[in-house]
Amino acid sequence: MQTTPILDVQHVSKTYHTGAGPLTVLKDISFCLTVGTTCAVVGPSGSGKTTLLGLCAGLDRPSSGTVILHGHTLNLLSEDALATLRNTDVGFVFQTFQLIPTLTALENVMVPVELRGDRRARAYAVDLLQQVGLGDRLQHYPVQLSGGEQQRVALARAFIGQPRILFADEPTGNLDAETGEMVIKLLFTLHQEAGTSLILVTHDFEFAQQAQRIIRLRGGMIVEDSGPPQRHSQGTGPWAPGGTASEPLQPAR
Ligand SMILES: Nc1ncnc2c1ncn2[C@@H]1O[C@H](COP(=O)(O)OP(=O)(O)OP(=O)(O)O)[C@@H](O)[C@H]1O
Ligand SMILES: [Mg+2]
Repeated sequence: MQTTPILDVQHVSKTYHTGAGPLTVLKDISFCLTVGTTCAVVGPSGSGKTTLLGLCAGLDRPSSGTVILHGHTLNLLSEDALATLRNTDVGFVFQTFQLIPTLTALENVMVPVELRGDRRARAYAVDLLQQVGLGDRLQHYPVQLSGGEQQRVALARAFIGQPRILFADEPTGNLDAETGEMVIKLLFTLHQEAGTSLILVTHDFEFAQQAQRIIRLRGGMIVEDSGPPQRHSQGTGPWAPGGTASEPLQPAR
């Protein structure tokens, strides 16, 4: 069983300085996830879930405390080094999709690996879009896709760089129940096949239950943590390291 940490969050706090004075939205958050773990982050609106994900993914910096992502202490990295780490190690699925409107589905998925200068990006993007059931929508622009289809493009984009860890912030928040279920199933299937660690923010209890660990926030603090799982998946599918997917991408490390 893997015991290597992928994400180690130590005493993290976040305070925003607003016109009305300082506002502390995360207080002394600590937890550690090992490689290949799935974790749901739940809690009421405003409890700090999105803020926490942003800090863990290196999109934002904590006011105090330390985030160690795949052995890199984020606080010590320059903006450029952080951007490189995000490109090679991190996938992020935003609640609002955040696809580039002037690019097709295929081009949107290719963007992260094109940035690495990998010429096999196109074949990989086609492969992934087929896996998420959009093989016949490659040339469609976001505006020509339904919400569920856009979210699946966003999932394919998050997975194309074969990230070590995937953050999904309410990926079903804008979807109907049936499409939401399909997106969650895809997320867990891709996680299983690639062995990717997964952190999922959700308001849906049933989706949260599918994760091996549940962390509950309230008022910026962890009020419940089911703790590290006893067992977790290793990744056995074609997208796993050493799997059968053709020509694995070589991230520029
Ligand atoms: N840039 C900012 N400046 C000031 N306050 C902020 C900023 N970003 C977030 N907040 C505040 O931090 C708190 C936590 O916000 P956050 O978006 O993390 O909550 P959340 O748990 O994701 O909520 P939801 O379930 O509604 O998405 C909120 O009270 C919010 O108003
Ligand atoms: Mg949020």
